Amino acid sequence: MVKKLSVYMNDKLKGKKVVFLEKIKQLPPILAGYLQLADAVMITDEKHTILDVNNEYTRTTGYEKREAIGQKAGFTKSQLTSFCTYVSLKEAIHVGKPWTGVLLNKKKCGDLWHSSLTITPIKHENAVYFIGVFRELEQLKEGMYLSEQEKAGTERELLRVLAISCEIRDPGIEDHLVNVQNLTEQLIVSFHKKHSNRFSVAYLSQIIHASILHDIGKAGIPEGILYKPGSLAEYERKIIEMHPLMGQDILSKLSIGLHNDFIKSLEVAENIIKYHHERWDGTGYPHGLKGEEIPFEARVVAIVDVYDALISRRPYKDSWPKEKAIEHIKSQRERYFDPELVDAFIDMF
Ligand SMILES: [Fe+2]
Ligand SMILES: [Fe+2]
Repeated sequence: MVKKLSVYMNDKLKGKKVVFLEKIKQLPPILAGYLQLADAVMITDEKHTILDVNNEYTRTTGYEKREAIGQKAGFTKSQLTSFCTYVSLKEAIHVGKPWTGVLLNKKKCGDLWHSSLTITPIKHENAVYFIGVFRELEQLKEGMYLSEQEKAGTERELLRVLAISCEIRDPGIEDHLVNVQNLTEQLIVSFHKKHSNRFSVAYLSQIIHASILHDIGKAGIPEGILYKPGSLAEYERKIIEMHPLMGQDILSKLSIGLHNDFIKSLEVAENIIKYHHERWDGTGYPHGLKGEEIPFEARVVAIVDVYDALISRRPYKDSWPKEKAIEHIKSQRERYFDPELVDAFIDMF
């Protein structure tokens, strides 16, 4: 093993590689044995720095040993693996438990690498090592697995199509809906960092998926009012303020005949649609709910919906600079918005 690694040393990285040489030298024989597995294997130290990979890993990813060793375990991340997966991975590893799940990583050539990963922590002489065994899912026979990620991806896409088709009359709406969904994801990640035990990861993922539907009720508002430049008459404002209730009605018609699992995720969507214009101090619409009476999912979307509206150009207003919009959100802490969520929102920047 020492001989093999010394091949990869070069003058520039000599110091760094010597550290790894020493660590590899101290690896118990049982760990070196894992590198003989037929699947791709990565062994890291407790800081998730790669200590060694096997030939199958090199063949699959296109990264030579010398390129992989010394990198962080997540260096092949594609950004396409779901938020839920990384949270459950980190939680398990943090408490020294084994973890298994499906990841979408990137090979050196840029192709996606869809694999099932099992990470096993192994303690040896007061040190912890992580053995990651990857199995390429494309190699399994069709029908052998249904990845959670694929399921979630399909669900997300269905909701996106539904949201856009309800608001097809506005050519700019897709950007707003997708921005709201992306910002919801960022806010959820930021909130979860601070309050990791508050909500289940599955529930938080449902909020991200469903946020795109927040305004489907606008499908029921006459265009003349919805896209009217300039200020609205009192009766026009009242009609626009009906969109949360119209959205609830549209959703209940759509959900007839849907599968149970899907209906559950629509409960979160219903709360977002119904309550995303409620305000923390009770001055919102349509129900005038206050504080925690407003479902958490609606409090999240309320912030990012206003923020995206402020930084976007509309027929009746110019876009605000981001700093000014952030200041506005800050100024509404405990007035319009949940203070804890405003704090998490500020942390995003
Ligand atoms: Fe709305
Ligand atoms: Fe909106």
